[in-house]
Amino acid sequence: MMTIRDRISEKFKELFSCSGTVYMSAGRINLIGEHTDYNGGFVFPGAIDKGIWVEMKPNGGKNVRVYSLDFGEYSEFGMNEEDAPFRSWARYVFGVCREIIKRGYAFGGFDAVFAGDVPLGAGLSSSAALESAFGFGINDMYSLGISMFDLALTGQATEHNYCGVNCGIMDQFASIFGKAGNLMRLDCMTLEYEYYPFKPRGYRLVLLDSAVKHELVGSPYNKRRESCERVAARLGRKFLRGASMDELDAVKADISEEDYRRARYVIGEEKRVLTVCDALNRGDYETVGRMMYETHRGMRDDYEVSCEELDYLNDMAAECGVTGSRIMGGGFGGCTINLVKDNVYPVFTDKAVASFEARYGHAPKVYDVVISDGARRVE
Ligand code: GLA
Repeated sequence: MMTIRDRISEKFKELFSCSGTVYMSAGRINLIGEHTDYNGGFVFPGAIDKGIWVEMKPNGGKNVRVYSLDFGEYSEFGMNEEDAPFRSWARYVFGVCREIIKRGYAFGGFDAVFAGDVPLGAGLSSSAALESAFGFGINDMYSLGISMFDLALTGQATEHNYCGVNCGIMDQFASIFGKAGNLMRLDCMTLEYEYYPFKPRGYRLVLLDSAVKHELVGSPYNKRRESCERVAARLGRKFLRGASMDELDAVKADISEEDYRRARYVIGEEKRVLTVCDALNRGDYETVGRMMYETHRGMRDDYEVSCEELDYLNDMAAECGVTGSRIMGGGFGGCTINLVKDNVYPVFTDKAVASFEARYGHAPKVYDVVISDGARRVE
C-alpha cells in the first residue's frame, strides 16, 4: 500500500511536474488538563503517530497553489488580507501565511500538496497538525528562523483570526514539540515545559472515537472561554489559574450559576493535573486513572462539553474495570482517552465496540496511542 508520503509526492509531480520537500506535523492526545490552556494552566499532551504530511516548493511567483488530496480540491490564492480563499481547509493555510507575514517575515509563493491520517473532528487536532506542517515547512523552506514557540503561536493566531476558534496553545504546541515516548507538561502561563517519558508498564492508552463530529468553529467552545474570562475578571485576575474554590465561592452571588460551574471545573482540573504529575513520578497509575474519571465528570456536569455517546463510552470503561477514562480535547464529540491494563484491553475494546454499535448503529473506532515525534522535515 502506498504511504501518505508517496501519495502526495505522486500528486505533486502530476500537478507541478517536479518534486518539493516533505514536512509533517502530528496530531495530539492529552492525558489530562482540558480547557486549562486558555486559563493559564497546565496541560499534559503528547504528539501521536497520525498527522499531516505536506510537500512544498517555492514557485517563483506570489501565489500559493495548494491541493488537498483528502478533499480532492485545489485552491490558489495571494497572500494579502483581501485574498482569503473561501474553502475552509485553505483558510488554515492562508491564515498561517498571513500570521507569518504579520510577524514581519517575507517569503514568496509556493506550491503544495497535503494529506493526512488524523481523523477530522475527532478531537485529535487535525487543524493544529495542518497549521504546524505548513508553518514548519514555510519556515524551513525559506530559512526564516522563526522559533518553534513562535510557530506554535502562529498556528494559534490562525485559529483566532481566520478560523473563528479562540483556542489555547496546547494543540499547536504538542503538534510541534512532540517527542516519541514522551508526554509534555506545559505551563500555559509561562510557556515552560518539561518532557515526561511515558511508558507505563502493564498499561496502555487507547482512544475510542465516537465518530460524533465535533466542530469547534462557531461552537460553544468560545462561550466556555468567555465564561472563564468573566469569572477571572470578577476575581481581579488575568487567568483562572491559581484561583481557589474559596475565592470563587466569595463571588458566587455576583456571577451566573453557569459561570460558577465553568470556573469550578477549571479550578478542579488545575489540581488534577498536579496530582497526576505527582502520581506519574511515583508510577501510581491508579491515581492517574481516578483523576481521569473525575475530569470526565467535571466536563460532563460542570463544563457541559460531553455528549451522550461519550458518556456511554465512559460508563462502559468503568464497567469493564478500565483504570482511567475521559472525554478528550475540546469536547462536543470526538474521542475518549482510556488508560487500560493490558489484560483488560481486549475485553474492554471488544465489549465497548459491540455494545456501542448495537446502541448507536455505528461502531466506534479504536486507536492505540503511539506517542511520537512532532513537526519535522521528512527525509
Ligand atoms: C481544543 C483547543 C485547545 C484546548 C482544548 C481543550 O483542542 O484547541 O486549545 O483548549 O480544546 O483542552
